[in-house]
Amino acid sequence: MSDRVLRPRRSCLAVPGSSPRFLEKAQGLPADQVFLDLEDACAPLAKEDARRAIVKALTEGDWGGKIRVVRVNDWTTQWTYRDVVTVVEGAGQSLDCVMLPKVQDAHQVVALDLLLTQIETTMGFPVGRIGIEAQIENARGLVNVDAIAAASPRLETLIFGPADFMASIGMRSLVIGEQPPGYDADAFHYILMRILMAARAHDLQVIDGPYAQVRDVEGYRAVARRSAALGYDGKWVLHPDQIAAANEAYAPSQQDYDHAELILDAYDYYTSAAGGMKGAVMLGEEMIDEASRKMALVIAGQGRAAGLARITSFSPSEGVSLCSSVAPMRSSRPARCTSTGPERPSPSTTTTCSAC
Ligand code: GLV
Ligand code: MG
Repeated sequence: MSDRVLRPRRSCLAVPGSSPRFLEKAQGLPADQVFLDLEDACAPLAKEDARRAIVKALTEGDWGGKIRVVRVNDWTTQWTYRDVVTVVEGAGQSLDCVMLPKVQDAHQVVALDLLLTQIETTMGFPVGRIGIEAQIENARGLVNVDAIAAASPRLETLIFGPADFMASIGMRSLVIGEQPPGYDADAFHYILMRILMAARAHDLQVIDGPYAQVRDVEGYRAVARRSAALGYDGKWVLHPDQIAAANEAYAPSQQDYDHAELILDAYDYYTSAAGGMKGAVMLGEEMIDEASRKMALVIAGQGRAAGLARITSFSPSEGVSLCSSVAPMRSSRPARCTSTGPERPSPSTTTTCSAC
């Protein structure tokens, strides 16, 4: 189990390391994470200059609290060690994680961990601070994903790489991240779930990869909602227009967030001595117990991390309260705040609303 503190990664913006213009522009965009790319978005002849440009952008730029990641080339190329040495020696103190693409087995993660440790030691950086993000992009990586997820305490995320994955298994499509035509179910379901299970078994975050139809924000939104529903923490963003869609898809709605906080408060109260020490109680029309609390903790945590503010509160005598003008609402879905009036009134709870 990792004890790393993981920050929100709803939107993970790809930035070609060979483009000074994008390296500059990305700093002001509202993505949770940026990854400066030395791999596929960087032509072979441009990689050396890109390493230097990335070091400069990391050390001199203002990234405004975003998670700063550099994607190096994979271990089957000749570039990996120089990517890591140049970037980490030059900008290790301004770097949060190294992303390793096309990971096929645990040894590749261990090799990166060892190299990072040597560089951190040599440079006098705190050893172990820089994290690793591992991309699962082919059949071998997926088959070995449990061992990969357990390979290093530096690991923070597993990332699904649909483009390389689709190519590696021969999936018949040319649209990165979109369902292949001719298959009626979700062609990515097994892969997404397999990566998700390995990640969660080792307390890692799990990130969905790119959607290349950058002008089709609705298409992006639909794909993002699918992996968000499964439990993914975020998704790659290839274009600034996709950032807002990602930030929205991977955060709970206001309604779900308020509902989660309400469950936590109500359960806290009803299990206390003052609340009667009950293990399972009715909250409106819904039974809540310890398992409900765990589910609510996930949604509440995501909402807090996304900066959502509660618009309801719980008090044992009044049930749920929100805003100011009084209107009865069903307690189990307290955050629905509309001007069209009550939804399934319940005499035992009171909701009020100032926004309406
Ligand atoms: C990303 O690297 C992908 O292959 O989809
Ligand atoms: Mg790839």
